[in-house]
Amino acid sequence: MSNPTTAAAKTVIITGGSMGLGFQAARHIATTYPQWNIIIANRSTTAGQEAVQAIRKQAPSASIEAQPLDLGSLASVRTFAASITSRKLPPIQALICNAALQVVSDTRTVDGFETTFGVNHLGHFLLTQLLLPHLVAPARIINVSSGTHFSSTDVGQADKGGMPDPAYTTAQAAAFPPPVSGGDLQFIGRQRYATSKLANMWHTYELIRRLEQDTRLPRPITVNAFDPGLMPGTGLARDYAPPVRWVWENVLPRIPALTRLMLGAAPTSVPVSGANLARLAVDPAWEGITGKYIQGDQAIPSASASYDEHIARELWESSKELVKLKTPEVALA
Ligand SMILES: NC(=O)c1ccc[n+]([C@@H]2O[C@H](COP(=O)([O-])OP(=O)(O)OC[C@H]3O[C@@H](n4cnc5c(N)ncnc54)[C@H](OP(=O)(O)O)[C@@H]3O)[C@@H](O)[C@H]2O)c1
Repeated sequence: MSNPTTAAAKTVIITGGSMGLGFQAARHIATTYPQWNIIIANRSTTAGQEAVQAIRKQAPSASIEAQPLDLGSLASVRTFAASITSRKLPPIQALICNAALQVVSDTRTVDGFETTFGVNHLGHFLLTQLLLPHLVAPARIINVSSGTHFSSTDVGQADKGGMPDPAYTTAQAAAFPPPVSGGDLQFIGRQRYATSKLANMWHTYELIRRLEQDTRLPRPITVNAFDPGLMPGTGLARDYAPPVRWVWENVLPRIPALTRLMLGAAPTSVPVSGANLARLAVDPAWEGITGKYIQGDQAIPSASASYDEHIARELWESSKELVKLKTPEVALA
């Protein structure tokens, strides 16, 4: 439960707030913006509780709690949203869709979706839809994307960290790809991740277009996408072979020059990126800003493919069907 001794006036939900970028964003909000009630949402309840305890050590009066959420389960997303929206919380004014997986194994969610697409896009799509009617304006939604959403043909984009270009045809194909095995998975798994991050961009821009047309929802709800930069040391390499994971977690954070050499991109520190993400979600300096792709703390153009409205519409409509959104639940037509 949140710490009852504080008088937090508004709530921010951070998916994947138990570690990595999400944890650092939660920690920054707890230590810098005491008026916010923080809900971190992830699968491991132990890790969630440990994160809350670690943050309370730095901010003893912080209003913060962990709630279980598995974005790879539509039922879990529904349970989480129902539990959050049925409680008397300070108004929900920020949603940070941060959790993500990068898998190099060919797995499926409990609903049968390819895991990367299921967790990184579909889970957040459903969560956003279910929470939208409960946001209190002025509210902000931040979708954490990545420089990997760029293609190598995009002008001036070298910071892909050695990742393959995204490859997207339809949401159906992304959700139900044919099985793969063997060495292909290293490439295909990383490509699926890049594609899911491009899907985060299409979701962001389509959400803005639909919000602009919908008069039923409170205004303003701003929506931005965020690229934290390359952050070696986080849990993102958890599915890789142990030696690769070890280098990512223990060596690269200490030797930036090696990161540049191996991945072709300059690393950023997780606390710095977490603070940037936190500010984007709650700081008055970003009030009213919408439709931007923020790299670090600067708005820059996103990949040319991300502005494709036709694909964004297809992704949206197909996602609605894939997550089985019921008619009364459809916040945005
Ligand atoms: N690390 C980088 O270099 C980098 C670069 C660019 C962008 N990003 C983006 O930054 C964001 C955070 O990544 P990170 O590096 O901080 O990763 P991380 O350290 O692995 O943290 C991921 C978080 O997401 C949670 N999570 C994973 N699967 C989940 C699921 N099915 N349902 C709910 N929560 C889930 C994890 O907790 P549980 O496992 O307990 O669920 C954890 O809290 C991601 O969107 C990633 O794409 C990272």
